[in-house]
Amino acid sequence: MRRAVAAFDALATPHGVDRYLELVRPTWSSTEIRARVVGVSRATPDSVTLTLRPNGNWTGFTAGQHTQLTTEIDGVRQTRCYSMANSALDTNGTIELSVKAHPHGLVSQHLRATAADGLTVGLSPAQGSFTLPDTEPQRLLLISGGSGITPVMSMLRTRCARGWTRPVTFLHFAPTADQMIYRPELAALTENHENLRVVTVFTDAPGTSDLDGFLSEEQLGAADGGWRASETFVCGPPPLMEAARAIFESAGRSEHLHTEAFTLAQFVAEAGAVNGSICFAGTAQTVDNDGRPILVQAESAGLAPQSGCRMGICHTCTRRLCSGVVRDAVTGALTDGPDVDIRICVSVPVGDVEIDL
Ligand SMILES: Cc1cc2nc3c(=O)[nH]c(=O)nc-3n(C[C@H](O)[C@H](O)[C@H](O)COP(=O)(O)OP(=O)(O)OC[C@H]3O[C@@H](n4cnc5c(N)ncnc54)[C@H](O)[C@@H]3O)c2cc1C
Ligand code: FES
Repeated sequence: MRRAVAAFDALATPHGVDRYLELVRPTWSSTEIRARVVGVSRATPDSVTLTLRPNGNWTGFTAGQHTQLTTEIDGVRQTRCYSMANSALDTNGTIELSVKAHPHGLVSQHLRATAADGLTVGLSPAQGSFTLPDTEPQRLLLISGGSGITPVMSMLRTRCARGWTRPVTFLHFAPTADQMIYRPELAALTENHENLRVVTVFTDAPGTSDLDGFLSEEQLGAADGGWRASETFVCGPPPLMEAARAIFESAGRSEHLHTEAFTLAQFVAEAGAVNGSICFAGTAQTVDNDGRPILVQAESAGLAPQSGCRMGICHTCTRRLCSGVVRDAVTGALTDGPDVDIRICVSVPVGDVEIDL
């Protein structure tokens, strides 16, 4: 079927066969990964868990990886990264994504409010190097905060599905018990799996969880006395990641700490002088530079360049700088045109620039 579709693609010019296939069934595509929502649950007040059935172009994932999900909101395609939360060994052809709704978040609020069975979304192939090792470490330590639970939940579920039995500690931080996704399942897993210890910290409700406070060496020791001998994976908000890095560095264990960021703490580079204008080549639009990254300024101008992580990781927003100079908002490095490719989500204009969207 797939080969036949590829052959017909050439005949269907100018639209390609996908335009006709999707009229029959939205998930049909000869090349793109599309997925249909086949299950929705809203287990906590600010999250939604989606079960998705991708089409045959999906080739699977390794526990810890993410996908770029594209959905249409008010006629505009929006893309964001979400980590698979299910076991990578699942054989039923579905994947699970859990999305935390951020107070002013466009895509996360939209999915929380409207996602329903039958919704079709676009996906990228699985990507990312924050992954569970192929062979079982002597000890495993998984640490997460908030929505950062998703990739480590996949690692834990995969570890259990592989039948690994060496010690694993799962340390999770949430504001309160009600806001912790996967709480009942984690409790059930500890009943059925040898050597699994789940430790919770509810930071806004001291006295209601296993431990209190924010990550410290003392707290880590209380959660897992063997942490210095563990291969450790951390995903969560910037302060949690920074605390983990400092603890592991002072213990000389940095090479055994693996981290995944969902968001940047802040743009660290000096803002510099705000002047000049941005010309969006091919659109006949020019706007005054307001000092924000080019992606955000383009969106404010009503344009919709493709983006994914919005923090310089995924390269989805890479566009050609035709002329001018930009500053990397994370590192402060300057890049000089003409004709170089830049990630517009982390590039701030320095004076006049022309960018090909
Ligand atoms: C590799 C990777 C994997 C990810 N996996 C998941 C996942 O499994 N589940 C999940 O819920 N999210 C995940 N995210 C975050 C997700 O991609 C979006 O950033 C998040 O859903 C917010 O998007 P939005 O459109 O709602 O917010 P936007 O409209 O893009 O942003 C609105 C506001 O929220 C702030 N904001 C954006 N993202 C975050 C964040 N993560 N934490 C705090 N503030 C933020 C922005 O600074 C901005 O002020 C992942 C991100 C990356 C890079
Ligand atoms: S959107 Fe991912 S690098 Fe810019």
